[in-house]
Amino acid sequence: MKFFHPTVFFLVSFFISCNVLPFQKKEKNNDMLLIALGILANGSDWVWDLPPGFPVPNVPADNPMSKSKVELGRHLFYEKKLSGNGTMACSSCHFQSLAFADGKDFPSGITNQAHPRNAQHLSNVAYMPRLTWSNPKMTSLELQARAPMFGESPVELGLQNNNFLSALASNPIYQPMFERAFGGSGITEQNVRYALASFQRSMISGNSKYDQYTFRNNKSALNASEIRGLNLFNGEVAECFHCHGGFNFTDTSFHGGAKEEFFYHSNGIHTDAYYAGLASNKRGLFDLTGVASDTGKFRAPSLRNIGVTYPYMHDGSFMCDNANNPNITAGKTKVDCARDALTKVVDHYRSGGQAHSGKDGALIRAFPISDSQRDDMVNFLLALTDDEFLSNPKFASPF
Ligand code: HEC
Ligand code: HEC
Repeated sequence: MKFFHPTVFFLVSFFISCNVLPFQKKEKNNDMLLIALGILANGSDWVWDLPPGFPVPNVPADNPMSKSKVELGRHLFYEKKLSGNGTMACSSCHFQSLAFADGKDFPSGITNQAHPRNAQHLSNVAYMPRLTWSNPKMTSLELQARAPMFGESPVELGLQNNNFLSALASNPIYQPMFERAFGGSGITEQNVRYALASFQRSMISGNSKYDQYTFRNNKSALNASEIRGLNLFNGEVAECFHCHGGFNFTDTSFHGGAKEEFFYHSNGIHTDAYYAGLASNKRGLFDLTGVASDTGKFRAPSLRNIGVTYPYMHDGSFMCDNANNPNITAGKTKVDCARDALTKVVDHYRSGGQAHSGKDGALIRAFPISDSQRDDMVNFLLALTDDEFLSNPKFASPF
C-alpha cells in the first residue's frame, strides 16, 4: 500500500495547508511550492524559518536538515558524556547567553590546556563556507566538530581513545532519537557530528534592532546616534563594510547556491615582530599555509551579536577595562564591558593599527572621525544584539 506512506500523508496535508491543490482557491504561493519541492527532494520535514533579508543557507547533500536531527544535535551539544571525563560539552565553551561565545580570551578543555585562540560565537554559522579563525581546510560543520571532539593540540573534549558512543547508548533517550534522525545506522561517530552540524545550522540570528530597522521597516528601531554609526560603518571613510558587509556582517559567506566566498585579512592588531615571537599555532593563516604573507591573517568575524561576544579578536586582546583579570567583568554590566572593548576596537581602526606587512593598507589606514562619531559607531555595533537569539528555547539546553 505504497500510497499510504507517511510522507504522502504529510505532503497532502501540507499542500492543503498551503492552499495549492487544484480544488482549492488558486493562490500563487511560490514559497510554499518551493518548500514542498524541498521536502520531496530530500524527504526532510525541515522548513527554514528565516528572518526577512536572510538567504537560504546551503546544506550538504549528504546531511539534509530534519527536525529530529536538529533536536538530537541540541541534546548532543549540551551532553557532557561527549567529553573524556564527563565534565564538558560543546556548550562549556559556547554559551547561548553570549551568542555561543564564552567571554574568555582563551578557553581551555578537559585537561586545562589553553586553546591558542578565542572561542567563536555561532550566530548564523550556517552561512560560513570556512570554519574557525583561519583554517581554510575546515569546509563544513560536519568536519569542524572533529576538532573539539578529538583534537590533541589542544585537547578540548578529549574523546580520542574514549568510548563515548557506549556512554551515549547508556542513556535510553538516545537510541530512539538516533533512529528517528538517521534510521538504521544508529549511534555512530559520524551521526553525532552530523546531528551537531544540523543543530548549529539552525542557529539563525536576525532580530536585532538593526534588523528591525533595515528589514522589518521599523524606522524607530534605531536612534539617531545608531543611524549615524550605521552610515559611518557603511561609508568610504571607515571602510568597515568591505570586510564586514552583507546581511551577516562578514565577507565570508555561502548560501542559496551562490558562489562561496571566503577571505583572510590582517586588520593590523599586531606588528610583524609580535607575530615572529609567537608559537606556531598563533600566527593565523600562515600556520596552515606556510606562506609568509599569510602571517596575522584571519577570517573577518560576523559582527552579529558583537555586544555580547567580547573579548574580541582571535586572541581576545580587545577586552573589558577591568584591571588584573581580563575575563572578569566585576562591577560592570555586560553593556559597559562591550562598550569598553568596542571603543578600543574602533580606536584601533581609526588610528590605522600597527605596522604589519600583511595588513590591507587600502582599507586599514587612519581615518579622521571625532570621539562622538566613534561613539556613534559603538552604539550601532551594540544595536546588532539579538536578544531573542540569546534566550530562544529552541537553542537552549534540553537537560
Ligand atoms: C574548550 C573550548 C571549546 C569546546 C569544548 C568547543 N569549542 Fe567550538 N570553538 C572553540 C574555539 C577556541 C574555537 C576557535 C577555533 C579555531 O580558530 O581554531 C571554536 C570554534 C568553533 C566553531 C567555528 C565557528 C566559526 O565561526 O567558524 C564551531 C562551529 C564550533 N566551535 C563548534 C563546536 C562544537 C560543535 C563543539 C562540541 C563538539 C565545540 N565547538 C566545543 C572552543 C571550544
Ligand atoms: C580589511 C578587512 C577589515 C576591515 C576593513 C575591518 N575589519 Fe574588523 N576585522 C577584520 C578581521 C580579519 C578581524 C579579526 C582579526 C583578528 O582576530 O585578528 C576583525 C575583527 C573585528 C572585530 C572583532 C570581532 C570579534 O568577534 O572578535 C570588530 C568588532 C570589528 N572587526 C569591527 C570593525 C569595524 C567597526 C571596522 C571599520 C572601522 C572594521 N572592523 C574594519 C577585518 C576587517
